[in-house]
Amino acid sequence: MSKLDPQEAMLAAAQVVASDIEALLERLLSSVPEAGETTRPQRLIEAMRYGSLAGGKRLRPFLIVESGRLFGVPRARSLMAGAALECVHCYSLVHDDLPAMDDDALRRGKPTVHKAYDDATAILVGDSLLTFAFDVMARPEVHPEPAVRIDLVTRLARAAGLGGMAGGQMLDLAAEGRFERDKPRLGESETSTLQWMKTGALIHFGCVAGGVLGQGTPEQIEALSRYGRALGRAFQIADDLLDVEGDAAAVGKATGKDAAAGKATLVALLGVTGARARLKDLVAEADSSLAPFGADAAMLKATARFVAERKA
Ligand code: IPE
Ligand code: IPE
Ligand code: MG
Ligand code: MG
Ligand code: MG
Repeated sequence: MSKLDPQEAMLAAAQVVASDIEALLERLLSSVPEAGETTRPQRLIEAMRYGSLAGGKRLRPFLIVESGRLFGVPRARSLMAGAALECVHCYSLVHDDLPAMDDDALRRGKPTVHKAYDDATAILVGDSLLTFAFDVMARPEVHPEPAVRIDLVTRLARAAGLGGMAGGQMLDLAAEGRFERDKPRLGESETSTLQWMKTGALIHFGCVAGGVLGQGTPEQIEALSRYGRALGRAFQIADDLLDVEGDAAAVGKATGKDAAAGKATLVALLGVTGARARLKDLVAEADSSLAPFGADAAMLKATARFVAERKA
């Protein structure tokens, strides 16, 4: 058998994780636990499945599997933590697409949840996926030691909340000028912070979570954190480039919307060429952060390259 190059090997490994995550989410969502004398509204569980199954690159779970592999973390544990993270991510997409936010009709090549159902159902899908994420992350299948689970739960809560994704989304909408008479003019550093929060924080969590599951040393966790900081920033720059240059059919969502909406992006500030140069620097930074792991980190290095060059 011919040896795959690192990028091909990474894509193949990511596909296996994607199908494992699909099967795991399917299993988890087929038995969402009850809180006492309750019932599970059929419309809500159906819409939760619609918003989380059959689609997506599943990149965030892949980061947990690959960072966990550096420490010999059993794959089933990384996948459980990955399923929890993916629930938070899917919720963020469902809410991001709502008419009151980015107002998008297409996601992962299908009508968005509020188009397929309705706005109120989409809001509740988000609420339910977000809370379900913590139900999953707190389970012993993630790690037998409660302290490790609490650490993950705390980190995920912080990555998702006020100082992370949700806060970043607030800044993203504010930057459009929705809440003030004059559109605020964000500079490079403010734009980077906004992007780091709305997108980078959850990706960073994925990079660090494998080290937490593997009970790595503070130095090892810091190396993963540096990698995650670079990867998280790179991811949103690539997303913003795809909005300008991407093919809507390939990305499975509308393109060409950010400039019209007045979104704060590094592409708007630096131009396509400047944004590409920034991406290159971030990939180099991601690579160098992984030095302590030597050749074992080849897959994570290939992932940084994938994030920068992706077409979807
Ligand atoms: C899209 O994330 C939203 C952003 C944070 C830019 P992904 O590009 O990872 O979306 P899926 O999960 O593959 O659909
Ligand atoms: C999304 O940023 C960040 C999230 C927290 C979902 P975008 O609004 O650019 O993501 P897309 O382009 O809709 O996927
Ligand atoms: Mg958005
Ligand atoms: Mg959007
Ligand atoms: Mg976008």
